[in-house]
Amino acid sequence: MSGHILAIDQGTTSSRAMVFDGAMKVSGVSQQEFKQHFPASGWVEHDADEIWDTVVATSRKALEAAGITAADVAAVGIANQRETVVVWDRETGRPLHRAIVWQDRRTSEFCQGLLQRDLEPTFAKKTGLLIDPYFSGTKLSWLLENVDGLRAKAEAGTVCFGTVDSWVIYNLTGGKVHATDATNASRTLLYNIDDNAWDEELCGILDVPMAMLPEVKNSADDFGETVPELFGGAIPIFGVAGDQQAATIGNACFQPGMLKSTYGTGCFAVLNTGSERVASKNRLLTTIGYRLDGQTTYALEGSIFIAGAAVQWLRDSLGIIAEAAASGPLAEQASPKEAVYLVPAFTGLGAPHWDADARGAMFGLTRNSGPAEFSRAALESVAFQTLDLLEAMKRDWQGASGDTVLRVDGGMVASDWTMQRLADILAAPVDRPSILETTAVGAAWLAGFRAGVWPDAEGFAKAWVRDRRFEPQMDEDERQVRIAGWRDAVSRTLTKHR
Ligand code: G3P
Repeated sequence: MSGHILAIDQGTTSSRAMVFDGAMKVSGVSQQEFKQHFPASGWVEHDADEIWDTVVATSRKALEAAGITAADVAAVGIANQRETVVVWDRETGRPLHRAIVWQDRRTSEFCQGLLQRDLEPTFAKKTGLLIDPYFSGTKLSWLLENVDGLRAKAEAGTVCFGTVDSWVIYNLTGGKVHATDATNASRTLLYNIDDNAWDEELCGILDVPMAMLPEVKNSADDFGETVPELFGGAIPIFGVAGDQQAATIGNACFQPGMLKSTYGTGCFAVLNTGSERVASKNRLLTTIGYRLDGQTTYALEGSIFIAGAAVQWLRDSLGIIAEAAASGPLAEQASPKEAVYLVPAFTGLGAPHWDADARGAMFGLTRNSGPAEFSRAALESVAFQTLDLLEAMKRDWQGASGDTVLRVDGGMVASDWTMQRLADILAAPVDRPSILETTAVGAAWLAGFRAGVWPDAEGFAKAWVRDRRFEPQMDEDERQVRIAGWRDAVSRTLTKHR
């Protein structure tokens, strides 16, 4: 029975554990949601203890569902919500504040200050990122300034900083290992992605004592082993990656020019650029796709904050659908004559606009506009936003201009209507994999590959199975009219253009 892999996917709203058997098939799954804390407008926090409790509970249940014990598991792989910041006491292991989540905007003003000091080029050059509250660095600065005694302890080396992967690893190993992987480090604003090291100058600017930073390892590496009492035996931890990078691996995008887009609450498009670090001129991020045996594979990333959340808005705020799955059939009934557009800037706009103050807007409403047109506008907004990202990628890098087929994953891609519309708007094929949980698959591959029980990248890519290809069908004139309508709507929504 040995040769199983336990994949932990610690996400923004839930923790999920999946067990894969020796044939890379899913044999046990468990998922648990946890509480979102909103202590002030624009602030989002998680209870780090609750994150840890749900990781343990789901892992145990997944092992039970698979009918196996720790002895049957060759390795653990971890994928995690990125950028979210945890600080904890090195001795007691106790968190010293609630985790500040990637969505949290409390450091907006602090970021403005950095921009005014013209520091963005310095950060962009070294980290590939832009200055935005999204990333970990300014959140960590906020904690060091606002949690009593934290700075003194950090300087004395008695507290640990980590993204969620570090927090999970630390707990899985009973406090023995304080480490992260290169993909997670590359989202902090503190990590130099050329030198592959924490950057002294950037830590200085953000006033972060380097003694609190974790060791940075390859994505497939030795991260220690789980304490036996957790799962009834020790299991090595061999794989770690941020969830969007793990989904890129799970979708087998190992070749330069390959591209995936994950549609969850938001949407994250990641383009493999190989060993070449491509600097974006179009406000995309340069990030580490994965690091294997010291070899870094870079990626360009476009992050959109609202994708599936637009469907939740139709369901929960407008009440025009009872369940998410009803959005596609409703959109299908929309009148082709109604040119209604939704710009879902509910929490500002991410790439390529990065307009934190923009807010959502609808355009083109007539007395005939109703639920069907709203539903179509919400689903189409996801396709238009993806188009904007892909066009920015093509402008940034020639390697993206070939016959790129977009591989998709995440909950929203179950909707055939949305995927067809995505292919239509992109005027390019869209491939949906047979397993939609590509994040967990990617974490499992890193661990399984390191453990020698899963094939190498080439073999794994061959085993990747497509469920369906969506070919573009829309008339080009109609497509251009729709895209022009969308661009006009966005330009009227951006605050800087008002
Ligand atoms: O950068 C944030 C991203 O990692 C969150 O992903 O799937 O947990 O919403 P998810």
